[in-house]
Amino acid sequence: MSILFESIKIGNFEIKNRFVRSATYYALSDRDGFISQASVDLMRQLAENEVGLIVSGFAYVLKNGQSVPDMNGIQTDEHIPSYKKMTKAVHDADGRIVMQIVHGGANAYSVSIWGGDYLAVSVTENMPRYGIKAREMTDEDIEKIIQAFGQAARRVQEAGFDGVQIHGAHGYLVSQFLSPLTNRREDKWGGSIENRMRFVAEVTRAIKKQVDQDFPVMIKLGCRDFTADGSGLTIQEGAQVAGALENEGLCFIEISNGYPIDQTMPVGINAPEKEAFYLPEARVIREAITSPLCLVGGMRSLPVMEEVIKSGTADCVSLSRPLIREPNLIKHWKDGDTKPADCISCGGCFNHDGKGGHDIYCRQLKKKEKKQQAK
Ligand SMILES: Cc1cc2nc3c(=O)[nH]c(=O)nc-3n(C[C@H](O)[C@H](O)[C@H](O)COP(=O)(O)O)c2cc1C
Repeated sequence: MSILFESIKIGNFEIKNRFVRSATYYALSDRDGFISQASVDLMRQLAENEVGLIVSGFAYVLKNGQSVPDMNGIQTDEHIPSYKKMTKAVHDADGRIVMQIVHGGANAYSVSIWGGDYLAVSVTENMPRYGIKAREMTDEDIEKIIQAFGQAARRVQEAGFDGVQIHGAHGYLVSQFLSPLTNRREDKWGGSIENRMRFVAEVTRAIKKQVDQDFPVMIKLGCRDFTADGSGLTIQEGAQVAGALENEGLCFIEISNGYPIDQTMPVGINAPEKEAFYLPEARVIREAITSPLCLVGGMRSLPVMEEVIKSGTADCVSLSRPLIREPNLIKHWKDGDTKPADCISCGGCFNHDGKGGHDIYCRQLKKKEKKQQAK
C-alpha cells in the first residue's frame, strides 16, 4: 500500500490517509455567511470520496473581515446549527472536517459593498483599493479581532468540527501582520519578527482559552512572501513563527505563501518538476517543528506526493483545484486508477465576479461538457 494511504494522528484524532482538502471557498453562503445545503452536500461528497481531512472554505470571524462574496461566516452563535448539519454529514461518511477561520483586514470586500469599519494593519501604498479609505487599527480594534477569533473557535467546536484552522496565509490579516510590506507599525505589533507575530500568537492564545484543552488548533501559515524583488517575510522568519506557534500548542501546520495573494495558486503546473511548488520552503519549516506538517500547492501526481511524504519533508499533502475538478479523485487513486489529476492549474476556478452566486467550478470541464453537448 502506498504511504499516502497510511493513517496519521493529528492532535486528538486520526485521519485515514495523507490527503487533505485544502480550504476552498465556493461562494455558496448567503450575504450573512449562513451556509447552504449545497455546501453540506459538497463536504459530504468529499468525505464519501476518501478525502482524509477536509478543511472548510474560509469563514469570517467578524463581518468587516469578509473578503469575498458569499463566503462562509462564523461571526454569531446563530451560525452554529447549520454547521452542525455539515459536520454530521461528514462524520456520517466517516470523514473528518476542520473549519478555517479568517479576518481579511485590508482585503475586506464586504466594507467595499456595504460600508463599515475598514481596518488595516498599516495604511500603505500596496493595499487593495476599494474606493474607501482604511483606518489604521488601534490596540482596541486589534483586541476585538483577537477575541472574535476566540469566540469563532468556540462556535466551531460547538458545531462539531474536529478542529479549527487559523487562516494565516495569502495576504489576509495574519499575513498582513507578519509581512513587513504591509505592517509598518512602530508599536508592539510591528517592527521585529517577534512583534509582527504577536497578533497570531495572541489569536492562538484567545482560541485556546475558548476551546477544550485537547481541541485541535491548526494554522495554514504563509511561511514567506513571494515578491519579485525578494522583499517581505523571509523563510527564516516563517520558520521562527512556525516554531513559536507550535510552542503555543498548535498541532498541525499547513504551509503556503504569505503576500501577495496572486502567488497562492501559480498556473500551468503541467509537469512533475513544477508540482509541490513550496517544497524548498517545507524543508526549512520541517527543521523548525515536530508536529505534523502539511504541504499544499501543485500536488497532482502520486509519485511526487509519495516522495514528499517518504522523504519526511511533510506528513500530509493538501489539494484544492484538483478536487474542484474531480471531487472523487482520492477515491480513484485508492481504487487503483493512478493517473495524475486532470486539473491543468489554469486558475479559472478562482474567478468570482464580485456579484456572488455559485461561480466556483472548473471552467475547463464546463467547456468540455459544452463541446460534447454541441456534438
Ligand atoms: C476557488 C479557490 C478557493 C480558495 N479558497 C481558499 C480558502 O478559503 N482558504 C485558503 O486558505 N485557501 C484558499 N484557496 C487556496 C488553496 O487552498 C490552495 O492553497 C491553492 O489553490 C494551491 O493549491 P492547489 O495547487 O492544489 O490548487 C482557494 C483556491 C481556489 C482555487
